[in-house]
This record gives sequence, structure tokens and C-alpha cells, in this order.
Amino acid sequence: MKILILGGDGYLGWPTAMYLSRRDHDVTIVDGMNKRLWEAQASVRPLTHTPTMEERRIAWMKHGKPLMTYTCDIADNDRKLQEIISMVKPEAVIHYAEQPSAPFSMMSRAAAIETQRNNVIGTLNLMFALRHSAPECHIIKLGTMGEYGTPNIDIEEGWLDVEHNERTARVLYPKSPGSLYHLSKVHDSHNLEFGCRVWGLRVTDLNQGVVYGTGTDEIWMNPGKLFTSFHYDAIFGTVLNRFAVQAAFDIPLTVYGSGGQTRGFLDIRDTLQCVELALLNPAVHGEFRVFNQFTEVFTINDLARRVANVTDCTVAHVANPRVEEEEHYYNPVHTALPALGLDPHPLTDDTIERMVNYVHGNRGGVNLSSIDPTIQWRQE
Ligand SMILES: NC(=O)c1ccc[n+]([C@@H]2O[C@H](COP(=O)([O-])OP(=O)(O)OC[C@H]3O[C@@H](n4cnc5c(N)ncnc54)[C@H](O)[C@@H]3O)[C@@H](O)[C@H]2O)c1
Repeated sequence: MKILILGGDGYLGWPTAMYLSRRDHDVTIVDGMNKRLWEAQASVRPLTHTPTMEERRIAWMKHGKPLMTYTCDIADNDRKLQEIISMVKPEAVIHYAEQPSAPFSMMSRAAAIETQRNNVIGTLNLMFALRHSAPECHIIKLGTMGEYGTPNIDIEEGWLDVEHNERTARVLYPKSPGSLYHLSKVHDSHNLEFGCRVWGLRVTDLNQGVVYGTGTDEIWMNPGKLFTSFHYDAIFGTVLNRFAVQAAFDIPLTVYGSGGQTRGFLDIRDTLQCVELALLNPAVHGEFRVFNQFTEVFTINDLARRVANVTDCTVAHVANPRVEEEEHYYNPVHTALPALGLDPHPLTDDTIERMVNYVHGNRGGVNLSSIDPTIQWRQE
């Protein structure tokens, strides 16, 4: 297939590009290098130096089909995006190109506006470019489980059947996200559903849980040159990465609040599988399809215990910078991707150990002062 990956310089985009190129697809990457700029603005860095997109493209040529790469900010340069789409005529677009951090979006008015402008306008530009130049193309959009929040009822896959005053309707599942970043994803979902219903676009919205891990088969072919970014800081880092760094330094694992917050998680190898399954089983013309994309559900306390058991670390509860339920009901449906054949990689002690060892081997790159949260959801 001819596939365009937006955000192909990122944590998930780059491994996806290699994975699909190795499976003989024609892959074109677009990235505006926005993340590298936001990292500099927030004064944080990934654990190890992330090779440039060009360095990785050249390194990959020895292993799989050559990749095409374009530098383009899809929120700022709709014309260039349109030209790329006209040239490539993709059969599928995998859209990762967004500002992905909740704390970043809560940092300031400017950062909130940057997040929503970047994410919502980038997605709108994509919708218009496809409507004009490749209306049959299947959009695979990365959303997040955080769009739903933590409602006191089961979370369905995107849609809810409701009965009201003796009539029934199928409506988009009501969302109650916990940050302005997550809210930008809700706006995207509504815009995309509109594009399907009114223009006949075809979209799979992958509401993804928190991804962990750095090991994919393609990265291991040449880790030095093909590695993907690993963030552990309070802004772009995710919880398991933070715990891996704290464990490697034998300092307490910091759990925000009581630690009963419950979320869906998945191994990065399963992100690649899920995206491939969506690609090979596309939404039909006019369909807005939502898959909940995670393989396991853990509380933050569960995760801390798992890491502490493997590494003998202690756990410390710290004040929660976020406004969120710390003890709540959580029962999200996730049957669509397993029905298509997803074969999950559950979290193992071995995976935890490999993450901690990886950090240990790169201890020099760790800035411990970037771990403690500084961005508060509510100013007292
Ligand atoms: N990593 C996770 O745990 C996770 C979980 C749920 C959802 N997601 C979603 O998956 C997607 C990818 O996440 P990630 O962790 O790889 O993030 P990332 O920041 O590492 O990658 C995103 C990439 O998109 C690029 N980008 C951003 N805005 C752009 C724009 N306007 N034009 C062109 N390029 C742009 C960035 O430069 C970056 O390379 C995001 O949409 C994120 O919200 C990620």
C-alpha cells in the first residue's frame, strides 16, 4: 500500500515507518520537527540523542524499502501538505502529528493554544487535503483513551446507544477529558466524524492507552542509528518510563496521589500491530470507526508494585498535580482489535528489567531534576 505517516519523526511514528517499510509497503514520512522545538522550549530532552530524520532514513536504507521524507508542519502549511498528498496519492494516512502531552497543554495559555491550534488545525488541513486530492484514502488517526475520562459507566468503543423518552439513537460516546491536550483529541474526533458523515471520508480513530517500551524488531537491527525517543521527564514522559529511571537510580518511584488512577496500557509492539490491523481492514466510505487500543488495565499503584518487585525500589506518594479521580470505576470495552487478530504482548518482568537496564546503560543522559512535576492543573 502507499502509506503516508504524519509525525514520522516521533516516538511511535518512526518505528511504524520501519515496521511497514519492512513489510513492503511504500512509506512516506511527513514531520514538521515540532516536537524537537517543544522539547527545547520546555528545556527537556529524551534520554539519548535521537538521530535526525535524515540520519535515520539513510540508516534504514540498508534494512528495508527506502522511505521518502518531507519536512512540513501540517498545521501551518496546508498548501505543502496538499501538494504532498497530490503527489503521493496515499491509500492510507496514519496521523500521529500532534502535540502529545497533557502537562504541556496545561503549562500556560500560550501552550494550551499551541496544542489546540496545532492538533485541531493540522487534522482539519488533512481532512480538506484528502477531500480534494485523495477522497478514497483511509485515515488512521491516533486518539487517546484519555478522551473518555473516567465515567461511572462502561466505556464503549466510540459510540453509545441511548434511549431517551422512548426513542433510541446511536451517539458519539460522551467525553470528559482531563486536560486541554485530551480535549484537542475530542475536537479532532468530532471533526473527523463530521468529515465521514458529510463528505464521505473513511476514518479509524484509535483511542490509544499509554504506550511503553522502546524495543521493536526493526530498532534492534541497529539500535544506535534507528532508536526512537525515550522521554521520562514530567512533561513528555509517561509513567512507566519515569519509574524505570527512578528504579535505575534507586530512588523512590513517585506515584501521584493515592495511585488508584486506572488506565489502559500497551507495549509499543502492539501499537504497531494495531495500526497494521486497521490498515489491512479499512473503514468503509463514510464510516467513522473507533477502536479502543490497549491490551491491559493497571492502576498506577499496580505499575509501581510491578517495578518495585523487579528492582527492590521503594514507592513514594506525592501530591497529585492533576485534577483527576484517584479511586474510580473503569471498565472500557476493547474487543474490536482482538477480533481482527491482535496478539498482545502483556507487560512482563523481563520488559521492566530491559527498560531499567536501558536507562542504566545511559545514566549520563538523565536529568533527575526534570522528573518532579512542576505544572499544576489548578492554581491554588
Ligand atoms: N505515546 C503514547 O503513549 C500515546 C498514547 C496515546 C496517544 N498517543 C498519540 O499518538 C501520537 C504520537 O505520539 P508520540 O508519543 O509518538 O508523540 P511524539 O511527540 O513523539 O510524535 C509526534 C510527532 O508529530 C510531529 N508533529 C507534531 N505536530 C506536527 C505538525 N503540526 N506537523 C507535522 N508534524 C507534527 C512531532 O514533531 C513528532 O515528531 C500523538 O497524536 C499522541 O497524542 C500517544
